[in-house]
Amino acid sequence: MIEARPSRTALRVALRRAAHQLVDHQPLVFPDPLAVPILGRELGEELRRTPVPERSQGSRPHSAALRAFVVGRSRYAEDTLAESVQNGSTQYVLLGAGLDTFAYRNPFAGLRIFEVDHPATQRWKRDLLREAGIREPEALTFVSIDFERERLGEELARGGFDPSERTVFAWLGVVPYLTREAFRATVGFLAEQSRGSAVVLDYGQSREVLPPLEQLAHDSLASRVALAGEPFRSFFTPGEMADELRGFRGIEDLGSTELNERYFAGRTDELRLIGSAGRMLSARL
Ligand SMILES: C[S@@+](CC[C@H](N)C(=O)[O-])C[C@H]1O[C@@H](n2cnc3c(N)ncnc32)[C@H](O)[C@@H]1O
Repeated sequence: MIEARPSRTALRVALRRAAHQLVDHQPLVFPDPLAVPILGRELGEELRRTPVPERSQGSRPHSAALRAFVVGRSRYAEDTLAESVQNGSTQYVLLGAGLDTFAYRNPFAGLRIFEVDHPATQRWKRDLLREAGIREPEALTFVSIDFERERLGEELARGGFDPSERTVFAWLGVVPYLTREAFRATVGFLAEQSRGSAVVLDYGQSREVLPPLEQLAHDSLASRVALAGEPFRSFFTPGEMADELRGFRGIEDLGSTELNERYFAGRTDELRLIGSAGRMLSARL
């Protein structure tokens, strides 16, 4: 990604979470009262006028499917967190936090939160928070990093992260943008965390294993993120991912069918996943 500039893909996924609040039918899969406010007045008003093409141009299942993936993975991470807090987790680390709003609506007393991201994206987010009048809670620490060059353990330690505590790591919408080396360095750190800790991530399957129509959708998304200066770099098959995560136990790796059953069944709108490109995974130590 381009060092000095806030992440454009972070804005794009935040726009999809915000659109979910405005266009999708109840019950929402991921209700987030801060998803629209964090975007600021101008973007928020624009979104209210024309939230997504669906409203004006009829059926757009691919756009709805991308939105479903974005809200589905946030829901999956926060479901995992809620369960883990019951089981003693006291820290939540958002790796590549972007404009995620969990820290500002955290319902768990005593939970410490670390938002880890590129410094330019963090500066931009903190400006947006200030403009929107959203307070940064005391339990939150911002940790700046470039996953490609810096060591996560060292940066988190500087921020006061306690490796002896049970922790949930959310790594949403980040893995495809990392080199294999940066991905492995972070997985290596995660695999050394205290017993009972968990990681939730999403990843994309390699183009070659997708059916032809999905390859076209893949190419279109890949060229859009490359134009935004954040090209895709890493893809995995489920087998390859399981191999990368061999230090973990209890791996749950979900494709569209399982995720549609869990989060999108019986909906009266078009919000559901399509195809086999994107997967969500949780793993425990
Ligand atoms: C698609 S956004 C996802 C943001 C957030 N997790 C969400 O779901 O809304 C990707 C995030 O990863 C961060 N990121 C990508 N490459 C990074 C790197 N090498 N070092 C640090 N952060 C990185 C970007 O700054 C951005 O916030």
